[in-house]
Amino acid sequence: MLQVSKTFGPTPLSSVIHMTPTPAQRPTTKQATRPVARTRARRVPASPDELRAIYEQCTRFMNGTGKRSATSLLASIPDDTVMDLYGEGGVVAELEHEIATLLGKEAALFMITGTMAQQATLRIHADRRSSRTIVFHPQCHLDVREERAYERLHGLVAATCGGYATPLSAELLASVHEPVAALLVELPQRDLGGTLPEWEELIAQTQWARDRGAATHLDGARLWEAAPFYRATAGKSPADISALFDTVYVSFYKGLGAIAGCCVAGDAATIEELKLWRIRHGGRAFGLWPYAASAQSALALRGHRFGDYYERARAIATTLQRLDGVEVLPFPVQSPMMHVRIRGDRDKVMAAMVDVARRDGVWMFGGAYANEGPSLQRFEFNVGEATMAFSLREIRELFQRVVPPSRRR
Ligand SMILES: Cc1ncc(COP(=O)(O)O)c(C=O)c1O
Repeated sequence: MLQVSKTFGPTPLSSVIHMTPTPAQRPTTKQATRPVARTRARRVPASPDELRAIYEQCTRFMNGTGKRSATSLLASIPDDTVMDLYGEGGVVAELEHEIATLLGKEAALFMITGTMAQQATLRIHADRRSSRTIVFHPQCHLDVREERAYERLHGLVAATCGGYATPLSAELLASVHEPVAALLVELPQRDLGGTLPEWEELIAQTQWARDRGAATHLDGARLWEAAPFYRATAGKSPADISALFDTVYVSFYKGLGAIAGCCVAGDAATIEELKLWRIRHGGRAFGLWPYAASAQSALALRGHRFGDYYERARAIATTLQRLDGVEVLPFPVQSPMMHVRIRGDRDKVMAAMVDVARRDGVWMFGGAYANEGPSLQRFEFNVGEATMAFSLREIRELFQRVVPPSRRR
């Protein structure tokens, strides 16, 4: 089985900048101080700084909401925003009410990170049950990107279900033979290219948890991205999806593009208890209003756009899948995100991408990057507002330039 390198990162540039140079390119101290010669090697950026400079000069961005800037994010906070005090009142309360209504839950709580929010939520579910076991997919954010805080801070233990290329399923859950406090389902599953279970399968998974008295928790960091699939395939709304879960976490800064922050929605008692954990986690900041105001603006601006992003993602996937040397996962796509696998040497692919950035001012990739071996590269492609500005033809032509020539038809 292929191993995914740990190069995933949250910012658009981290995917490229955090790549470790191969020994052949790694500059010595002496080399690093020399001006870079105009040789073939010049085409592979020597340092994260150089990459950043190229990125900053780009004028168009193909991934997600595009380049974030302090100017546009500050502009997402209206001048007449009503401030909260320690998370109480003002725009924070307004946003919580909006989310609770949208998801059909009694209450919601704003928190500054999903990391904090989900750990605390699962802790509450476990404290109400006789088990400390939480079940999730091995690519779960809690397991791979939160320093196992669920274990260190909350004494929870994980039972994983699924594999590198295998989503969680009711069939696999049947092999879990221990008392379970909570089942966490991530919709869509980011590290599997945004895969989603069919509606009936989702019902079966959550029913499995209910049958053994376990809570159901939705990691809906990208619930906005999941919604069009369930609307199209089962006529279901975000509230219908949420009804399958006791608690639902949604993020405001990923596909929606706000500054940061999230909400957890659930029954009133759980949300009240979550407030205590927000304090214990150090998340009760004196003012949360800039984040909440930005989230509210982002919801109003882009909340209704995900159906269009999904349709465009389907068309893009079909276009890319036809290119030799390119594979889209999953295919057909189930959300406005996908993994694009490119057959080719890492340095050549990256050099070509940088060439596109230099010549055309187009930054093609954002999000996560994984080197899956010497001749297979995997990029996360999120279709968002910035992507919508590119025609299918342009996207095809740009990708053709990135696939190493020998692999082309
Ligand atoms: C699926 C998923 N869950 C949870 C989180 C945590 O969110 P935050 O960055 O707000 O802590 C992320 C962040 O990328 C995520 O992708």
